[in-house]
Amino acid sequence: MLKKTLIAYASKTGSTQEIANYMGHMLQEKGQEVVILPVKSVADISQYNSIILGSAIRIGKLLPEAMAFVENNLAELKKKKFGVFIVCMTLNEDTMENRKIVSDYLNPLRAIIKPDSEGFFAGKIDFRRLKLLEKLIVKALKVPEGDYRKWDQIDAWSGNLFLN
Ligand SMILES: Cc1cc2nc3c(=O)[nH]c(=O)nc-3n(C[C@H](O)[C@H](O)[C@H](O)COP(=O)(O)O)c2cc1C
Repeated sequence: MLKKTLIAYASKTGSTQEIANYMGHMLQEKGQEVVILPVKSVADISQYNSIILGSAIRIGKLLPEAMAFVENNLAELKKKKFGVFIVCMTLNEDTMENRKIVSDYLNPLRAIIKPDSEGFFAGKIDFRRLKLLEKLIVKALKVPEGDYRKWDQIDAWSGNLFLN
């Protein structure tokens, strides 16, 4: 029986990647066999029994490579346990209103496949690491600067995911 978990991430400035690595190492410590890969380099998911896909949000959308992964692997994904988490700055203030905005970011993915589990996490942004156009976009969107990741919330979501 397959017991392997794949954590595939789409990340532009590294914060989603760090969350993926953190989750992976935590699950490994619990005895899970986990492979952590950038989503662009995943070729074949048939060897895994569960898949966790993580994506940063940009201008209200998952990164295109995350959506492409779902579209290209749909038939296989439907046979597996499938968890999705997204990382964005709207959740720097964890209100009901912001949770609704962030949950809606997943609607295009949900229209294709219904995940077994969904995680929503606040991310990190460092304006110095952005290109000029990106800076203009985040200023226009009023995205605040800082590291808002809450590792206890990440633990709580991923800690027992697919362990059975
Ligand atoms: C150009 C740009 C657009 C963004 N758009 C949004 C957005 O629409 N909503 C949101 O909540 N966060 C938005 N963010 C914040 C990112 O989702 C957040 O910084 C995330 O942690 C980045 O993940 P990464 O480091 O893995 O790329 C945006 C960030 C950038 C740079």
